[in-house]
Amino acid sequence: MKFDKPAGSNPIDRQRYIGQPRDRIDGPLKTTGSAPYAYERHREAPDAVYGYPVMSPIAKGKLIAVETDAAEGAPGVLAVITAAQAGKLEIGDMNTARLLAEYHIEHYHQAVALVVAETFEQARAAAQLVVVRSEREPGAYDLAEAQPSVTQAPEDTPDKAVGDVEQALRTASVTLDAVYTTPDQSHMAMEPHASTALWQQDTLTVWTSNQMINWGRSDLAKTLNIPPEKVRLISSYIGGGFGGKLFLRSDALLAALGARVVKRPVKVMLPRPMIPNNTTHRPATRQHIRIGTDAEGHITAISHLSWSGNLPGGTPETAVQQTELLYAGANRLTGLRLATLDLPEGNAMRAPGEAPGLMALEIAIDEIAEKVGMDPVAFRILNDTQVDPADPQRPFSRRQLVACLRTGSEAFGWQQRKAQPAQVRDGRWLVGMGMAAGFRNNLLSPSGARVQLEASGTVTVETDMTDIGTGSYTIIAQTAAEMLGVPLEQVRVRLGDSDFPVSAGSGGQWGANTSTSGVYAACVKLREQVAQALGMDAAEAEFVEGEVRAAGHSRPLTDAVVNGTLVAEDTIEFGDLDERYQQSTFAGHFAEVAVDIATGEVRVRRMLAVCAAGRILNPKTARSQVIGAMTMGLGGALMEELAVDTRRGFFVNHDMATYEVPVHADVPRQEVIFLDDTDPISSPMKAKGVGELGLCGVGAAIVNAIYNATGVRIRDYPVTLDKLL
Ligand code: MOS
Repeated sequence: MKFDKPAGSNPIDRQRYIGQPRDRIDGPLKTTGSAPYAYERHREAPDAVYGYPVMSPIAKGKLIAVETDAAEGAPGVLAVITAAQAGKLEIGDMNTARLLAEYHIEHYHQAVALVVAETFEQARAAAQLVVVRSEREPGAYDLAEAQPSVTQAPEDTPDKAVGDVEQALRTASVTLDAVYTTPDQSHMAMEPHASTALWQQDTLTVWTSNQMINWGRSDLAKTLNIPPEKVRLISSYIGGGFGGKLFLRSDALLAALGARVVKRPVKVMLPRPMIPNNTTHRPATRQHIRIGTDAEGHITAISHLSWSGNLPGGTPETAVQQTELLYAGANRLTGLRLATLDLPEGNAMRAPGEAPGLMALEIAIDEIAEKVGMDPVAFRILNDTQVDPADPQRPFSRRQLVACLRTGSEAFGWQQRKAQPAQVRDGRWLVGMGMAAGFRNNLLSPSGARVQLEASGTVTVETDMTDIGTGSYTIIAQTAAEMLGVPLEQVRVRLGDSDFPVSAGSGGQWGANTSTSGVYAACVKLREQVAQALGMDAAEAEFVEGEVRAAGHSRPLTDAVVNGTLVAEDTIEFGDLDERYQQSTFAGHFAEVAVDIATGEVRVRRMLAVCAAGRILNPKTARSQVIGAMTMGLGGALMEELAVDTRRGFFVNHDMATYEVPVHADVPRQEVIFLDDTDPISSPMKAKGVGELGLCGVGAAIVNAIYNATGVRIRDYPVTLDKLL
């Protein structure tokens, strides 16, 4: 189905299932521990043995030799696999560095070997006996040091300029010029990267923890130099991804290589302390923001340049995306600067671009509003735009930022905030309120599904879409139930298998809208088959309560299934609506904090998010996404930081003991309000994404609240107490 004009009314609008706060249908499996994760495929791979990786001890240099004799002689060891034994390996399209080092070490903890043994303990013990001989070469690890020498945009991401920002800054009544920094961050998903690999002749099956089945499958095939048809990837349940599992990673490749050598299934889980340096992370940024306004507070100039680093061939963190679209202003400049660093690969982490971009921009807006002498909510409303500021012919499909801010102010009691900082005392605490706008683009990509109807009335949906803890199983079941008029309990959803139609996958908050749209498309086809079988007009037929109704007649749905089953498959494809209309999601984030006057300890007391993100398919799962994201934003504001050893080139705090994330006691009462935002331009579901929007702006809202509480303006994340004293 091609979606190339705004959706009219359709069966989804009935909202008998869609839009209802249904429990997650995979919930009982998760909470009873019976959902099989990639490392727990005891049934499919009962004779699996264990692989334990060996990682590079240096960040950059020559890999001279990997000495494996001692490990090979250790108890239980079946094989030690290095690049020398692995045969020729390609580099996947989505990978920057090799997943198994060959002659060069490209980053710290790059995999250099896999030890395979009968038990996990034997593999781990033998891995300590592998000797890695390498020769260190000088590398670049310090973004601050690299910044001054990087003055040009990368070729494929040129600066975007509108009007004359320099001239407008010179003539502005009020100006701001400040630098903000965000640190490297690690996804820290609950489930580590893990895979179980099984070869049957020349066919490879890998149960893995991956957000994007089709990317993973094609890159595993490419890396191994085998046809994609010979690779099956299965990710039925995933314990969190956050972007860290968008791509093929070393666990899957090493498991496949190990299983090929020992001729038994091999499972590999990356040990937690290896994950931050072996896999990807959100790169640090240094962001230079300049804003000019007239005397009334209208933005006349806005300039945002962002520096980040990456390995050769890596991409920049696109932290200026929101600045192109969030506020009006005739003169604008946005640009990215990319330094070559030899740290591990920087890549997507929840809301790549906007999350760190808004951490900076939304403090800057707070600062300029104060300089103008305006309330920060009023300042944002004054500078709202309903069109792409660079292309006034291009409207937003829906844009309810102002409504988010007004609703949030009202619900949060914003009028009680004292504009002057450090005015509110509660015992030893200074108390303040802050807010920020939230923004995240709505991305679209094709998504396929297969729907089957049995004579029993059971509906089965199959798609390679994944559920990374987000609720995909549930909203897909709700979609099929709505379209076919069957109870939710009658829908079986099978996900995350490369044998199923290719979906958009879980990434960039596009998954919910696009994967359910694919299911919608397949259901439209199935409805046509049903109507034809029943001699009814598909365009007119209503599918409801197990019946098909048209022209005053009603027939049981299952009457359409005469022999076996009815099956329909389709893929939703998106036309140029997202070029003609800017499609984005919006939020207002509000926070109240208390800061200890003696120690600088910050406690967040309340949080509120008001979201406008298209139709909300399931308010319960969507709310869970948003409060999870708000928690992540709290971590980003106050705790999260990969500490870089700028001499040796690695992330020092590479485990969960020293990489701090919020615990329950850190998280206050969180409220989420969804505005009615049904968007016929986004898809037949009229939905958008919400899982990343919930993070975008949260960090700045908290830091702005800290400023309001204390009068101390911090521009470097995270705001640890040493910066406040
Ligand atoms: Mo998201 S960072 O695209 O999983």
